[in-house]
Amino acid sequence: MKVVILGATRGMGRALARKMAARGDRLFLLGRDRNALDRSAQDLKALGGAEVGTSHCDLEQPDGFAAALAAAETALGGFDTVVVTAALFAPQDELERDHLLSRRLLDVNFTRTIEFCEEARRRLTGGGGGTLCVFSSVAGERGRKPVVLYGAAKAGLSHYLEGLDHKFRSMGLKTVCVKPGFVKTDMTAGLDRPPFSGEPEKIAPRVLRAIDRGRPVVYVPPPWRWIMLVIRNLPRAIMRKVGF
Ligand SMILES: NC(=O)c1ccc[n+]([C@@H]2O[C@H](COP(=O)([O-])OP(=O)(O)OC[C@H]3O[C@@H](n4cnc5c(N)ncnc54)[C@H](OP(=O)(O)O)[C@@H]3O)[C@@H](O)[C@H]2O)c1
Repeated sequence: MKVVILGATRGMGRALARKMAARGDRLFLLGRDRNALDRSAQDLKALGGAEVGTSHCDLEQPDGFAAALAAAETALGGFDTVVVTAALFAPQDELERDHLLSRRLLDVNFTRTIEFCEEARRRLTGGGGGTLCVFSSVAGERGRKPVVLYGAAKAGLSHYLEGLDHKFRSMGLKTVCVKPGFVKTDMTAGLDRPPFSGEPEKIAPRVLRAIDRGRPVVYVPPPWRWIMLVIRNLPRAIMRKVGF
């Protein structure tokens, strides 16, 4: 595969990129921190042997999306897979206190991510198809007290990805929506770990398998598929009482 990844400097994006590099996929990294991009590219080159190019791309600066993807196209000679793991997280009470932070999170996790995906989608379908794999969240499956705003953005993102899958699969675009439950990364540092929390390195093979098979939705770690089945079906009266 020839893969462009936005978010490979840390967490699940980094673990997935390492897995791809190790099996010989060609990679191009997009991100907002040039030093972190360089460090990640060197690490991936050491693993896979092939040169790994990078380009600046900040989800808060949509005017740069086209140029970043064009740089990837030039470096890889076209690409067939785009992965987006980049996103912001903040606890609900912090977002309620900080109006600007909540606007930023909603912008980055919903509007800007979709704008980036649209740019990637046009290029993938223009090249005959490929795979767009985007990390959403189980937080988007039900309105829940600790993730009212973050979950709303992820719900919108999941909905968008489902629509893309319905509209473009017959034209060769496979959309893979990854729904992590709780995974131990910088994003969740300091939060209480619920049961069935996962590690980035353990979930990466499952995400890669979903990309290879073009699965429209994948839950990681796997038990979250069943946990969310229960949570989606809980009556509102219970959801108002519980704290999760
Ligand atoms: N961890 C979980 O439990 C969990 C649960 C559900 C869903 N998710 C979702 O899974 C995905 C990956 O999460 P993670 O835990 O691996 O996150 P992470 O370790 O915090 O890594 C986040 C990545 O996003 C990048 N990023 C953040 N803001 C950006 C921006 N404005 N422009 C470009 N890149 C930006 C970061 O780049 P820098 O290195 O430059 O900061 C980093 O590479 C996210 O979409 C997250 O919402 C995570």
